[in-house]
Formats: sequence, structure tokens, C-alpha cells
Amino acid sequence: MKSKASAPGKVILFGEHFVVYGIKSILCSINKRVTVTAEKTKEKKISINSKIGKLVLQPNKSISKIDSPLKPFYYLANKAIKDQKEGLEIEIESEIPLGAGLGSSSACCVAGAAAIFKLFGKISKEKILELAIEAEKTIYQNTSGADCTVSTYGGLMEYDKNSGFKKIKDEPNFQLVIANSNIEHSTESMVSKVKEFENKNKEKFNELSNLESKLVEDVLKLIKENKINEIGEKINQNQKFLEEIGISNEQLENMIEIGQISSYGAKITGSGGGGCIFALTNESNLENTLKEFTNKKYECFPAKIDYKGLNTF
Ligand code: MEV
Repeated sequence: MKSKASAPGKVILFGEHFVVYGIKSILCSINKRVTVTAEKTKEKKISINSKIGKLVLQPNKSISKIDSPLKPFYYLANKAIKDQKEGLEIEIESEIPLGAGLGSSSACCVAGAAAIFKLFGKISKEKILELAIEAEKTIYQNTSGADCTVSTYGGLMEYDKNSGFKKIKDEPNFQLVIANSNIEHSTESMVSKVKEFENKNKEKFNELSNLESKLVEDVLKLIKENKINEIGEKINQNQKFLEEIGISNEQLENMIEIGQISSYGAKITGSGGGGCIFALTNESNLENTLKEFTNKKYECFPAKIDYKGLNTF
């Protein structure tokens, strides 16, 4: 019997990095998905197949000794077959660009946890999320949990480390244009870089955190009122804060300039240093924004909010 699940990637609209320090963030799922298929096998081994490689291992290996981006799947599979006679074969397909700040690894963890554990009985979304966050920690220990949470539940949400997530019920009619710098970046090292900034500039960081917190509250009201121009202005302000904490760079800023001129607002999304930026659009400027990025040879695509979250088949 095969078990299949898919989960969406995400964009952090507001609050990346500050969320690590307890500030509220706003995220949304996007209509780009990872699909994972899992199947029991007679032989007790774990084999994982994806476009980025293959991992075939016996069970009960120490996670810290595995050097592969596929290790969250190994973690989940190993946990699932602990008291079983069978092994597992796992297949991953993804529409989400890898390592670009669009939540591909969290979507993998969520879809992986669902597809794998569903083979062994009924499982709630809450439990899948818990397993997905555990799996994500095998590659990124200090995760706030935000990415896995939005991938599981879909839509727009507020998230902070202390209160967890709260779904935003409004369904604003904006679309995003996501542009990829194709500069590799590591969330872990960008989070460390911000930690260093915070250590050296306590007062400044505190001031920026307070401003970010106020900005997020303002945006929550603007979303309710569907005020896209004003939301765009807040996006541009948030970008300035990200520049101040040192996660931007020249190429990202060139891209952001294109987005800010052609759309309502543009900023980095995710950990920065590379990865993606997004521009806020609606039907009036979506096509033109895509054209502007394409003309300047940037890889870009339109994205809508995904309201479904985790999907199991
Ligand atoms: C990474 O997508 C988002 C960060 O805020 C880190 C985190 O929330 O764990 C940079």
C-alpha cells in the first residue's frame, strides 16, 4: 500500500529573524508543493529517492553521522519503523525551489511525516506537525517552528514563539511575484549573523524589534481592511529593518528596487543573504512586475496564497 501527502511552501510576509526573538510574524503558504509517497517494503531498510539524490541506509544509524539533506526523511522513517518488521521506500517530488527561503525543507518534513506515519495508522495534523518540527531540527536545530506550522495549516497566519500560530481568517486578493537571486544561503548561518548583530548592538536591536512588532500589528489591521497600497509601504519599511540587521546585500537590493518600482512593495523573504525576495501585486500590476524581473534576467514566478495546507491522499 502506498501513502501520499503534499504540503505547500511558504513566504514570510513580515517578521523573519525578529520572530526568533519572540516578535510576531506573518506568513502565508504558496501554491507550490512538495509531494511525498511512502511505501512499506519487506526488507528492513530505508531508501529515499529525490531529484537531489538518493539515500539508502539500514535503520538505527545515528542522525548526527548522516551527511545528507535527506536526513529529516531518514529520521521520520527510522522513528516510524522502530517496532516494525518492514522497511520503507520514500519518493519525493518538489515544485519549490530548494534552499531559497520558500520553506522547501519544512514542506518536505510536513509531507514526509504525514505520508510515512499514515502507513501505520490514523494520525492528527497536530501530531504530524510535532513530528515535522522534530525532523526539521535534524538540519536546523533552532527553528522557530513557523515554517512547518504554516505548511501544515495553509493560508495566512500570525506566528510567535510563545503563543504559537493563529490563522488569519481574511482572504486578501493579492498575488506575489517571487524572484530568486540563486545565491545559496544557509538559514543557520544567517540566524547566527543576526545573533552577532544583536549581541553587539543590544539597544538598536531592541528598538528595531519594537518597531517590527508595531509594524506587524498595523499590517494585521490593514489586511482586514484590504488596503494593499498601505501593506506595500509596510513591506518596504520591513525591508529597511532587515537591511539594518545585516541580512541584505547588493544583488538582493537591486532586485528589491525592481519590485518596489513595479509593484506595491518588495522585500526579502526568509533568512536573506541570498534566496528570494517577493513583490506584492494584484491584477493591475502582476504582469508588468513579472516582465520587469524577466527583462533584467531574474528568475521569477507568480504565487498565490494556498489555503489548503497539508493534503493527504
Ligand atoms: C527562516 O525561513 C526564517 C527565520 O526567521 C528563522 C526562523 O524563523 O527559524 C530567519
